[in-house]
Amino acid sequence: MKNQHKELRPDHGTLLGELEPGDFLRDYWHKKPLLIRQAVPDIAGRLSPAGLRQLATREDCESRLVRHLRGRWSLDYGPFRADMLARLPQRGWSLLVSSVDHHLPYAAALLHSFGFVPYARLDDVMVSLAPPGGGVGPHFDSYDVFLIQGHGTRRWEVSEQDDLELVEDAPLRILKRFTPQQSWVLEPGDMLYLPPRLAHNGVALSECMTWSVGFRAPSHQEIASAFLDYLQEKLQIEGRYADPDLQVPRHPAALPVAMIERLGAIIDSIRWSRRDIVDFLGRYLSEPKPNVFFEPPRRPLRLERFAEKAGAHGLHLDPRTRLLFHGPSFYINGERLVFPPGQRRLMRKLADQRALPPMPLPDDLLAVLYEMYKAGYLWPGTGVPSAK
Ligand code: SIN
Ligand code: CO
Repeated sequence: MKNQHKELRPDHGTLLGELEPGDFLRDYWHKKPLLIRQAVPDIAGRLSPAGLRQLATREDCESRLVRHLRGRWSLDYGPFRADMLARLPQRGWSLLVSSVDHHLPYAAALLHSFGFVPYARLDDVMVSLAPPGGGVGPHFDSYDVFLIQGHGTRRWEVSEQDDLELVEDAPLRILKRFTPQQSWVLEPGDMLYLPPRLAHNGVALSECMTWSVGFRAPSHQEIASAFLDYLQEKLQIEGRYADPDLQVPRHPAALPVAMIERLGAIIDSIRWSRRDIVDFLGRYLSEPKPNVFFEPPRRPLRLERFAEKAGAHGLHLDPRTRLLFHGPSFYINGERLVFPPGQRRLMRKLADQRALPPMPLPDDLLAVLYEMYKAGYLWPGTGVPSAK
């Protein structure tokens, strides 16, 4: 089984070099940059420039083209026409494709090889392509990022400057002033970790591709408003406004004080529990991105055949599936399923490893996995796309 997966997965052993994940989190995460030479030695060639251009023509792929011509930045959103991408000039642009992990099993495996950070914090793998001299300009991001050099060479400059003023009227976030303090040249397989809000600039030294493993850091505002949406759907408050003790108002247009008090008490009585918070987070964090639509299998296997295939070749989650858990609750692509104690160990394994090895599976669990298969959330087999 291990061998079958090998060519699809990055080599985990080298990801942090000599560093233990716990030491990395303590000393670098959110704190300072770290360069790891040959962190992902097998990355180059996993996606060619032509392969990335092809992704950028697809409707179901989020792509952007940043151009820098005669001192002016421009930004266009894909999908792009293949002939336009083929005619891009020799200099001055960068093509960025987000969520490459949704389309390329290697990228999905790469993203999940960062499992020393909870999956709930993972966002996506973005891949960029730039000709020599190209890049997206000096900027800072609000989240942590691991920049992995694919094909070609790139120089990264960073600065701990406090001045984070942005160029006005630019269609993307470009720092008005950038004073590099440190720089590294990354070769294929090298990786640079950058903490949030660290100013950086990547310039391609040759035609180059950079893979960015990005993390999810929703703003407090975003979380709070999503929670209020969740609560609104759940709330069941009995009763209707009544004022049996109504007095004739001095000013009929004035908001009655008694009304403010009564309604204030009703709003104050809105309560939520830790269970609501867990349920909200499980659904919210496992919700697929807006451009993701799961396709059920075109010719679904019958349950018996599915069971045979899963028993002989294992199962793997669709690269776009998000599966998180808390206790008995498993949140898959925004839905909650509760599993009895006897099934939780295998479900946790499926969630952590994003696959189950070949093994006989209990009938009751198989029935649930089969429903997930019919929804397009998981597939029998090793994870080779053609296995679908
Ligand atoms: C890039 O790949 O050019 C941009 C990545 C980044 O700076 O975050
Ligand atoms: Co950046």
